Amino acid sequence: MSNSRKPLVIGNWKMNLDFVESVHLGQQLGVRLKNRPAEHTEIVVAPPFVDLRSVASIVDSERIPVAVGAQHVNPHENGAHTGEVSISMLQRLGVTWVLVGHSERRALYAMDDDVVAATLRAVVRSGLRAVLCVGEALDVREDEEQDRFVEAQLVHALRGLDPKYHELVTVAYEPIWAIGTGRTASTEQVASMSGHLRRVLGRLLVVESRVLYGGSVNAENAASLVAEGGVDGFLVGGASLKADSFLAIIQACDDCYALMANRRS
Ligand code: 13P
Repeated sequence: MSNSRKPLVIGNWKMNLDFVESVHLGQQLGVRLKNRPAEHTEIVVAPPFVDLRSVASIVDSERIPVAVGAQHVNPHENGAHTGEVSISMLQRLGVTWVLVGHSERRALYAMDDDVVAATLRAVVRSGLRAVLCVGEALDVREDEEQDRFVEAQLVHALRGLDPKYHELVTVAYEPIWAIGTGRTASTEQVASMSGHLRRVLGRLLVVESRVLYGGSVNAENAASLVAEGGVDGFLVGGASLKADSFLAIIQACDDCYALMANRRS
């Protein structure tokens, strides 16, 4: 963590947990966060579409200090898009965050850079917060082309976006080779890429955005990644499916932020 931006931890549940299981996890998070609230860290959970209503209801009724996000959305307003979900449908459920361009959507569901950019624009124009996901595959990393590759993804997604929406954009760096593999990027790799992303964002005048890291983050590696990796928090997959590991990651961010705040004062 390299600055005074408040940390953000997002749990991407991917295609896991039915609505009964998701309510159970929501309740566990609620109880635990009531006993030991995260003092500084903003928390978001992104369940599958079919769980959103149940999770949003329990978050609302139990006043659980987490925001609800969606993993994807279709940028069109409505119409003949079988199987898709619109932004206004999400808003009616109390969703306030949307992941845009996750590498699994890009690789498995033909989400190209143009669709990512159109989705990002539609999301922020509606006032929702977008988490723009970028990250390179292993062959790109082996060719040492990761900076150029990720920069191109970022520039394409943000091109032409009205600056008044910049504050609604968060960037998540998720190297594909680190996702679900247990092979976390090193703190040096994360620090180098977060520095690069911030320089590119600065050039594009997107200065307020938080930069997250995702890819096999867990309770053991979170503290060093956030302390030395220069990121503002995490986008967590597997470890967000259990209250214990998800809350340990949040605690690591909270502790790191408190330490930095102490040093600043
Ligand atoms: P894992 O934490 O399971 O590697 O997943 C990362 C991810 O893709 C979050 O969006």
